[in-house]
Amino acid sequence: MTEPAKGLFIRTHGCQMNVYDSERMTDILRPLGYRAVDTPEAADLVILNTCHIREKATEKVFSELGVLKRLKDEAGGKMRIAVAGCVAQAEGEEIMRRQPAVDIVVGPQSYHRLPELIAQVSRQTGDRLATDFDVVDKFDALAIDREVDGPSAFLSIQEGCDKFCTFCVVPYTRGPEYARSAVEIIDEAKALVDRGVREIVLLGQNVNAWRGAAPDGGGEWELGALIARLSQLGGLERIRYTTSHPRDMTDDLIFAHRDVAKLAPYLHLPVQSGSDRILKAMNRGHDAKRYLTIIETARKHRPDLAVASDFIVGFPGETEADFEATLALVREVRFASAFAFKYSPRPGTPAASLPGAVPDAEKDERLQRLQAEIGRGQQAFNSATVGRVLRVIFGRPGRRPGQALGYSPYLQPVHVDDAASWIGRSADVEIRSATQSSLSGEIRAHAELRT
Ligand code: SAH
Ligand code: SF4
Ligand code: F3S
Repeated sequence: MTEPAKGLFIRTHGCQMNVYDSERMTDILRPLGYRAVDTPEAADLVILNTCHIREKATEKVFSELGVLKRLKDEAGGKMRIAVAGCVAQAEGEEIMRRQPAVDIVVGPQSYHRLPELIAQVSRQTGDRLATDFDVVDKFDALAIDREVDGPSAFLSIQEGCDKFCTFCVVPYTRGPEYARSAVEIIDEAKALVDRGVREIVLLGQNVNAWRGAAPDGGGEWELGALIARLSQLGGLERIRYTTSHPRDMTDDLIFAHRDVAKLAPYLHLPVQSGSDRILKAMNRGHDAKRYLTIIETARKHRPDLAVASDFIVGFPGETEADFEATLALVREVRFASAFAFKYSPRPGTPAASLPGAVPDAEKDERLQRLQAEIGRGQQAFNSATVGRVLRVIFGRPGRRPGQALGYSPYLQPVHVDDAASWIGRSADVEIRSATQSSLSGEIRAHAELRT
């Protein structure tokens, strides 16, 4: 018997793991009759999938909940509100206390319990808060049909983090490192490719910490071996993985960049700072030299590799000299892109109680200088692709009518005019111009023969 259709609205904040989880929550709620709707007003169930990484992200949750409460009141209380994600995990009880309009709080490892939690709310019995760390249960229960949307799909292969960088909440919100089995991952990838997916993005908080038993009993695999196996799937064009940690970077993965044609020449390897003193205080487990050696080795085997990173400015005790070491590292590596954040003290993390807080004005000033330096590298990287022909996978329309937007192997956004018919497919594009943030070009005529 099919259930009557109910509206589901999920708002997702934070990283790609949350995007993946939101898709899986949609999948798990489909058998209950929930269908995605475009606005919270039209929804019977609204899920806020939250991020705890910086203070701003967390504060957003409470202001959004205020708005949702008003909508719920207007709907005569019929709407259900659930809070999921990392704020749910870290501050579940506080959320329930501060906003009584919230019906359900569900942490990232407990999404498979959503149907049960919804039933309990209707019956007004049982738990409304689920924040256990049962990641095995999660993936077992989520092993159901996925709906795909476009040519590119996320596939979560690893969760959690044991690194305990002193600034970061992730080890507390996502729990210890857990790797899904190779067999499970290959099956999910096959199902995606059967549904027309051309690009798979392997996800993990520390994706290169993934290890697993080889499916044929041939010992243990590292990420490079998994990627090599996935590359054998016919119809799959491109594989990416994100985010990696320098401590888990092995030769096996670097060699995959040399040997596996379908592996995109793109490495997101956050370094956070260029100062050894700060890296130590952050508990990153490596110094700047080690980072530079990894990049050098990777580029030796894959010279066109696009390298991306994350940075934090204004970590407690960061001096002008420390910050300049970061700028120097940026100049040396020449990143294809990078994210820079102002340090945000997170309750319960060791760095939050360190002395030497950097004034906000100084953080702002460093952020601007760092972003300018990153921008120069990004412009140079993009400009160097002008005149080249790059394979682009087109996922959606661009801003101009008829325009298609896709991504190059180096994860550069590429706009092509009069190319709407290419959306959902890939084509060879001759790059004609570059800005700091994107490229534009034209489809090469012969590309049609190749798809
Ligand atoms: N696992 C990844 C990153 C996860 S969080 C890694 O180890 O690199 C994504 C990024 O958010 C981090 O790389 C870091 O740059 C930033 N970040 C994490 N905690 C932060 C904090 N307290 N303040 C500012 N930025 C932070
Ligand atoms: Fe956070 Fe560090 Fe773990 Fe990345 S490696 S998730 S920054 S604790
Ligand atoms: Fe945010 Fe949680 Fe991801 S804190 S960055 S949503 S792992």
